[in-house]
Amino acid sequence: MNSPSLIQTRPSILVFDSGVGGLSVAAEIQKKMPFLQIVYASDNAFFPYGTKGETELITRVDKVLSKILSLHKIDLIVIACNTASTLTLPHCRERFPLPIVGVVPAIKPAAQLTRTRVIGLLATPATVARPYTQDLIKEHAASCKVLSVGSSELVATAEKKLRGEILDTQTIDSVIKQFFDHPDGSKMDTLVLACTHFPLIRDEILASLHRISPDQSYLLIDSGEAIARRVESLLLNNDALITEKIDKHQALFTKMSADIENLKPALSKYGFDQVEFIDIV
Ligand code: DGL
Repeated sequence: MNSPSLIQTRPSILVFDSGVGGLSVAAEIQKKMPFLQIVYASDNAFFPYGTKGETELITRVDKVLSKILSLHKIDLIVIACNTASTLTLPHCRERFPLPIVGVVPAIKPAAQLTRTRVIGLLATPATVARPYTQDLIKEHAASCKVLSVGSSELVATAEKKLRGEILDTQTIDSVIKQFFDHPDGSKMDTLVLACTHFPLIRDEILASLHRISPDQSYLLIDSGEAIARRVESLLLNNDALITEKIDKHQALFTKMSADIENLKPALSKYGFDQVEFIDIV
């Protein structure tokens, strides 16, 4: 029980991505800490991040975070985007004086769980190429074969799914098939979903793996739950927390395009009923 002399607070966190992918992370955080106030931000004006140059992405993330922090009281930032985290984390941590949690590819748990020692890494083209990702592989999966596929098509597929559009299985299959072009592809038993958009189409990715290689079973791993645990460990040292559940959250978009209307049912499912536009200049 909280002492009556403590001033109770409800922490407010920012969950930030280029698009809707960060909702997969927000959902894990909500599961663990349903009392947190979450501001979700989608930089849809600059979407997708996976095809952007490094300097322009660092500059952009800086601009968007600065703007949001000037408008909202935020206690902790989650950069719910592997593409942004693997590049911009050191810059953001130096620049903004609050805890920042980043999402990086779950290579380490994959290397611990694979039985065949063949791991798939599915990410954006930028995340696959990042030195940060290559270092994670060297450090944690040196005894494994890591087959990497970079895809922006699947990022767009996840966006479509949340807008209620019909998905094209051929597009998904043509990406997943790339793992099997590798001589060790048929031995892959663990797939790292290293883009926060991909857990949103987990079932579709798994169905595609089974269409292409029906006899293998697969473990699909993402970083969402680990991020929620990290956020919890950073916030729960505060014994004056308000722990009453909250289910009204706000979603910010950097471009108010017509298709946001189509996203509203999915946003509402995650508790983001209030949608606002912020102008980044
Ligand atoms: N959701 C993002 C990630 O985790 C990137 C999607 C994009 O290319 O914008 O990498």
